[in-house]
Amino acid sequence: MVLMVLRAAVVLSSSKLCGKALRFYSTDIVGANPILVRNFIHSALYHPEHGYFSKRSGPVGVLDSSIRFNQLEGRSAYMKYLDKLYKMHDISWFTPVELFKPWYAYAIAEAILRTANLSVPLKIYEIGGGSGTCAKCILDYMMLNAPPKVYSSMKYTCVEISPSLAQKQRETIGEVQTHLSKFNVECHDATDRSRWGKKETQPCWVIMLEVLDNLPHDLVYAPNQVSSWMEVWLQKDNDSQVSEVYKPIQDSLISRCMEIIGTDIDDPSRGRKFISNIVSRIFPKPRRAWLPTGCLKLLETLHSALPNMSLIASDFSYLPDVTVGGDRAPLVSSKKDGKTMDHSSYLDAKGDADIFFPTDFWLLERIDHACSGFSNQIKKPGAFKPLKKRRTITLDSAAFMEEFGLPMKTRTKDGYNPLLDDFRNTKFYLSVPTHNTK
Ligand SMILES: C[S@@+](CC[C@H](N)C(=O)[O-])C[C@H]1O[C@@H](n2cnc3c(N)ncnc32)[C@H](O)[C@@H]1O
Repeated sequence: MVLMVLRAAVVLSSSKLCGKALRFYSTDIVGANPILVRNFIHSALYHPEHGYFSKRSGPVGVLDSSIRFNQLEGRSAYMKYLDKLYKMHDISWFTPVELFKPWYAYAIAEAILRTANLSVPLKIYEIGGGSGTCAKCILDYMMLNAPPKVYSSMKYTCVEISPSLAQKQRETIGEVQTHLSKFNVECHDATDRSRWGKKETQPCWVIMLEVLDNLPHDLVYAPNQVSSWMEVWLQKDNDSQVSEVYKPIQDSLISRCMEIIGTDIDDPSRGRKFISNIVSRIFPKPRRAWLPTGCLKLLETLHSALPNMSLIASDFSYLPDVTVGGDRAPLVSSKKDGKTMDHSSYLDAKGDADIFFPTDFWLLERIDHACSGFSNQIKKPGAFKPLKKRRTITLDSAAFMEEFGLPMKTRTKDGYNPLLDDFRNTKFYLSVPTHNTK
């Protein structure tokens, strides 16, 4: 039931943009030369004109005012209220930071205040700040609760890929005049290392809320249980339809991702190869697995540009009712004539559908450690065991909110608390540098 509620929130939500003649087809995305699946997803979501996140109205909804949970009777009153909100707003969805404003962002601000070294100016980056609600609420919290010098000297930078959302963020922060001198939006792809400039060695914070789920992923395929994985490319066939083609692994980002994931993607050369060979010949079972290559690229970039960053990321750990095939497959969802439609093929997404992936937090931790320069392998016999460069923890959202937030504020009269009760398929990941960095 809990997940259904979240799904309702997500699904009620998917885009209303389909009414327009989009004239953006998967064949436009693919063009004359074959492309990797991550490039297809990138265009479908972030194409400057047709991409899902490039539309001015749509993907990220903003509530005019905070919900007064304490005045609602309980769950059914909350659901009715939500339903009314979705009918009133021409939006795709409300993310938790929006639904539970200001309390959700206040909890993040409190986590930062409790952990940061306040003797140096506080520097916060937010990747994919959506409507700017998190940024504004964190600045509000610092203004109201931090020592005055922390607020007066702090800098908050949003790195946002969508020009329309970057503009929305400026407007949201502009509601409080004194925030403006502390706030800045850089409109570019946060995974692009060249846009970050010189390495910044000062401690800083990076926040990413529901960003990992929308980062491009790659797809690998194997025709049966024992064959090696191949990378999936997309090409136009003779009748102009887009279809998958499979090539031996050659892309360096895919290779690095598979190396980090390690045994998670079965290596047919290990284990019971003989038996597997026979079984796979009798019952060949094609395998598909989605790789978080966008997440890897983003973390490589962040660790290279901001080696002393502390990271707070929250995202879906699980998505219900996914019909697209493969391990860690995405939900592909669009809305037409007011009705939500889930698609069983990612190729159906052409700017009018959201594509979002569950985050495997165990993998995220591995990727984060690997990008920080830590390797699990001891390269030379007799050498010291490598030291981890990050301290990390994954918490259920409810645990994070109970630790750093004010859960009473999102409780309804009968004790039902949507923030704690409905978002059980979301988690927070916290990662800070250790001092063993020499
Ligand atoms: C699902 S929305 C979440 C918005 C906001 N964080 C929230 O929780 O309400 C994803 C956001 O990430 C942005 N985004 C996605 N990929 C990005 C990238 N590579 N670089 C910068 N921003 C990105 C999108 O434009 C959007 O603002």
